[in-house]
Amino acid sequence: MHSPILVALDYPDEASALDLVEQLSPRLCRLKVGKELFTRTGPGLVRRLQGQGYDVFLDLKFHDIPNTVASAVRAAADLGVWMVNVHASGGRRMMEAAAAELAGLQQPPLLIAVTVLTSMTDEDLRELGYLEGALARVASLAGLAADCGMQGVVCSAEECPTLREQRGKDFALVTPGIRLAGDSPGDQRRVVTPADARRRGADYLVVGRSITAAADPLAALQRVHEELRTAGG
Ligand code: C5P
Repeated sequence: MHSPILVALDYPDEASALDLVEQLSPRLCRLKVGKELFTRTGPGLVRRLQGQGYDVFLDLKFHDIPNTVASAVRAAADLGVWMVNVHASGGRRMMEAAAAELAGLQQPPLLIAVTVLTSMTDEDLRELGYLEGALARVASLAGLAADCGMQGVVCSAEECPTLREQRGKDFALVTPGIRLAGDSPGDQRRVVTPADARRRGADYLVVGRSITAAADPLAALQRVHEELRTAGG
């Protein structure tokens, strides 16, 4: 079974990450390795997780000149990750170079673009000279990303309906900011339940603390599945 649930391994060391992973199952989730854990543990941990049967989303949000990003994406593909991402704001040539680098590989990772970080407010964007507001900017960056061969975007659940309508069903929407009912939002500004995210059109749900901070992470993961089933997915 290929799970739509991507558990965010936001840990400062390998032992803590593995401790959590041991309580989960590759039949029930995939794993997201981000900048902190990767910088501390490197590709060795990714290989180890893959060796345990997990698909890994390497969430390093590459953003650099086209040649550098293409090579980085290729390194991720050689590592055998299932999904990798770049910043759409790196522009057309950067994204096209990344897509071209993966073209022709037998089992390339899904190549996803980050549009606007969900931590950014309209005010933050204005300060950077982007006057159109977050949703309009996300929609235009998603359009550019699709045009450059990206297979989907990371976006908030709020943006999912607009992007689904605009981009159709074959464009992957990867959505963080998920909380099981009753859990604390922590530093997230807007959170939705797994069922809400699915109803709004998310394909993949990035879930961190609702699973990693749960007293029983496996039970929390099963609750997410249960919610998705009741939401028709
Ligand atoms: O613990 P929580 O469920 O809030 O974790 C969400 C995960 O998704 C974290 O790893 C966070 O870095 C990531 N993320 C996010 N918002 C984005 C992109 C990634 O929360 N726009």
